[in-house]
Amino acid sequence: MSSLRFQAPPLDISSVLHGGFHHPVLRKYQNNGRNLTKDMFMYPIFISDDPDAEQIVATLPGQKRWGINKLEGFLGPLVKKGLKSVILFGVPMEMNKASTTDEVGSPADDPETPVIKALHLLSKLFPGLFLAVDVCLCEYTSHGHCGVMSQLPNPTHSNFPTLDAEKSAQRIAEVALAYAEAGAHCVAPSDMMDGRIRAIKLALMQHGYGNRVALMSYAAKFASGLYGPFRDAAGSAPEYGNRKCYQLPPNARGLARRAIKRDAAEGADILMVKPTLPYLDIVSDCAQLEPDHPVAVYQVSGEYAMVVAGAEKGIYDLKQMAFETVESFVRAGATVIISYFTPQFLDWLDEPR
Ligand code: PBG
Ligand code: ZN
Repeated sequence: MSSLRFQAPPLDISSVLHGGFHHPVLRKYQNNGRNLTKDMFMYPIFISDDPDAEQIVATLPGQKRWGINKLEGFLGPLVKKGLKSVILFGVPMEMNKASTTDEVGSPADDPETPVIKALHLLSKLFPGLFLAVDVCLCEYTSHGHCGVMSQLPNPTHSNFPTLDAEKSAQRIAEVALAYAEAGAHCVAPSDMMDGRIRAIKLALMQHGYGNRVALMSYAAKFASGLYGPFRDAAGSAPEYGNRKCYQLPPNARGLARRAIKRDAAEGADILMVKPTLPYLDIVSDCAQLEPDHPVAVYQVSGEYAMVVAGAEKGIYDLKQMAFETVESFVRAGATVIISYFTPQFLDWLDEPR
């Protein structure tokens, strides 16, 4: 044996950490009081206008567009496993888009629109299931943008129009009200128009829903490259331009903080940050700025697809990586997790870890 060239002194008491997490039970104790539980998960569901649809979405592995006739068979087993909430997205793919979509997204609150039919049906089928619904116009407008356009040109793209803030907030509030009337427990505007939280809250209050419907704001939603699979699933990519003038710039921490504070002040009951993994600093900011609000995070389509793709390439184990992502969300301060992994977590959270 070679002689030691350096003899360290005995460890200081404060240097010894391993004793505190050598056992699986001890490791659970290290969660700072933040436990990952089934009731934190909200599952995004795409509702098709073909009542019998069960369509695979190529870029969103394992997720489908569902027709309302398939919802009982699909969701029943998940509810039995402990599914507590869903967020619905209307994806009217089959209807002849050219003839029904328009400047103001009229199909969004048509009584026959798939998401309104789904709200009626799910309220009857699963009375205990919390029904949130995404509120946006992009699936229903001819131009594919999330608000109502004005005639004014966009200053950075003179060939594109810009948004009309007042008309957009007004129209979004009308759609939110229609979903409240159809039985939604929670309306969640993802459009990012200025003033829409205030407009929706006032519309809900005026019509007697102020104390019966929660308002979840996509408060800090960034113009991300991670929405691609969703736009395939929902057919909601813009016809021209992009969403950079209404979704937040990825470098903008201060602007995100302002948006969070604004939406809390305008009457949001739940504040959301989206996407999640590249924006954990914003999640943590949100929890600190508004400690008295639930903080929701959306692990968006591209984040989900990324985790799945890496596992398929053999880079890591799917379950381990999925847990690692959602544990980072909880650590940062999330109390609600919107994730396409929800069905798997309903199983995984029952398994020993
Ligand atoms: C539409 C909307 C989007 C998402 C939720 N609502 C896409 C977008 O803003 O282009 C993204 C969800 C996901 O990627 O899973 N306003
Ligand atoms: Zn939109």
